[in-house]
Amino acid sequence: MAFALTPERERELQDILTRYPNKMAATIPVLHLCQDQHGWISDEIVHYVSQKLDVPPAHVKGVVTFYTLFNQHPVGKNQVWVCRTLPCALRGAYDIIEHCEKRLGVKCGETTKNGKVTLRTAECLASCGTAPMMQVNQQYYEDLTSEKVDEILRKLQES
Ligand code: FES
Repeated sequence: MAFALTPERERELQDILTRYPNKMAATIPVLHLCQDQHGWISDEIVHYVSQKLDVPPAHVKGVVTFYTLFNQHPVGKNQVWVCRTLPCALRGAYDIIEHCEKRLGVKCGETTKNGKVTLRTAECLASCGTAPMMQVNQQYYEDLTSEKVDEILRKLQES
């Protein structure tokens, strides 16, 4: 079955279009809308957005492949992004990453077997003053320690 937004998200899409000078300018928010529903941007969604916005599929694909926040493959229910840029690295980010990999039994870029968590690294998330930090879905967790990470990951595995 072809991809389609839910009626509620379709209304949201129409609302988004009123806020931009042209349809092409709405590519990023419309892709976010699709990803919120589907979890990742499949080729089918690329064509859907292309048709909705009257832009070439190559434009949509270019946006999807440029921004790391767009998932190009199926991902876990929860997204964990550990910042690895210098301020976080100096305050132990690589230990946090290794700790996450051990606890979850996956390497960065992979998803746990139960589909609950995808682990990734990120470049600076603008929270350097509270390094090391990570983003889980839409929420920041800062001043991380191994203990804090254990608690966060435990809750995600139970979700
Ligand atoms: S370096 Fe990690 S938030 Fe800026």
